[in-house]
Amino acid sequence: MSGKPPEPVRDLAALRSLEPGGIRLAVVGWPVRHSLSPPMHRAALESLAALDPAFAEWTYGAYELRPEELPEAIALFREKGFRGVNLTVPHKVEVLPLLDVVDPVAERMAAVNTLFFEGGCLRGFNSDGYGIERAVEEAFGRGLGGRPVLLLGAGGASRAAAVQCVESGASHLWIANRTIEKAAAIAARVRAGPAGDTDTTRANPARTTVSALPTKEAPATVPPGTLVINATSLGLKRGDPLPVEVAELPENCCFFDMIYNPAETPFLSAGRERGYPVANGLGMLVHQGVRSLEIWTGHQVDARIMRNACQTAPADG
Ligand code: ATR
Repeated sequence: MSGKPPEPVRDLAALRSLEPGGIRLAVVGWPVRHSLSPPMHRAALESLAALDPAFAEWTYGAYELRPEELPEAIALFREKGFRGVNLTVPHKVEVLPLLDVVDPVAERMAAVNTLFFEGGCLRGFNSDGYGIERAVEEAFGRGLGGRPVLLLGAGGASRAAAVQCVESGASHLWIANRTIEKAAAIAARVRAGPAGDTDTTRANPARTTVSALPTKEAPATVPPGTLVINATSLGLKRGDPLPVEVAELPENCCFFDMIYNPAETPFLSAGRERGYPVANGLGMLVHQGVRSLEIWTGHQVDARIMRNACQTAPADG
């Protein structure tokens, strides 16, 4: 257990008056007070400190900042010697023009969740794709590569997952959404990479076939054994409808929900009732955190410690 008291959630004024000291990490969101990132990263930093006392100087805080406050906050993070920052809603897209270097995968996702202040250079990464790949592998015994994937939804979460499916070499990716135009836009993006990048071997190295379709057509379209990923917001609220007609899907699917709270959405319950293997988004949260911390520290991080910290964190931090 930690000897250090948890840091409070801070605002921009608190960041302005922060005294320099130690090596700082943080998560930034609006809102951020329910984030599991602080307990998860603090537990991992403690385990690193047990091996190397230098990590006792590292801290992980939380900042609740509005979108318009982000540019000043980034300048302050630089000035006050922060090493890394996780970004969550609504900052992942708006941060892009503020970066010196954007990792190519993050650029394809058009979203950054990990800032790395490396010397004078601010680099942006996206560890969400790595998180989903590792979580799927952990839950179902194999990752996204070589398998058919049905991705439900066409918001920011779906865009990152779609890029990762192509990066990992899914055999076929169907992006299904209520609003077909949004699914078509993501499909075009992952087929061809960001605007101006005509080298499709870079954006789609395994030549994954990518299709967009209205959600109601998906069950009759995908083959048996499809990995179905819920990247819609359906399931966050009690009483939400299912994101797809589960009863009409073929045999031997696996269900992955990017939602982790509630731990079992109606989508996962329906999959379990049909005998499919199911997994919620906790593994994705944990593994994106592992990747971020590895970027900042250069050390391997134990995912089990981070998962355990999420599972034992107070429900309302
Ligand atoms: P995020 O950035 O977290 O992915 P988002 O951009 O708000 O969130 O996307 C939410 C996704 O859930 C969208 O795909 C949305 O479908 P539309 O693009 O058609 O709006 C989907 N979604 C939300 N409520 C829905 C509902 N009642 N029925 C079907 N899809 C829904």
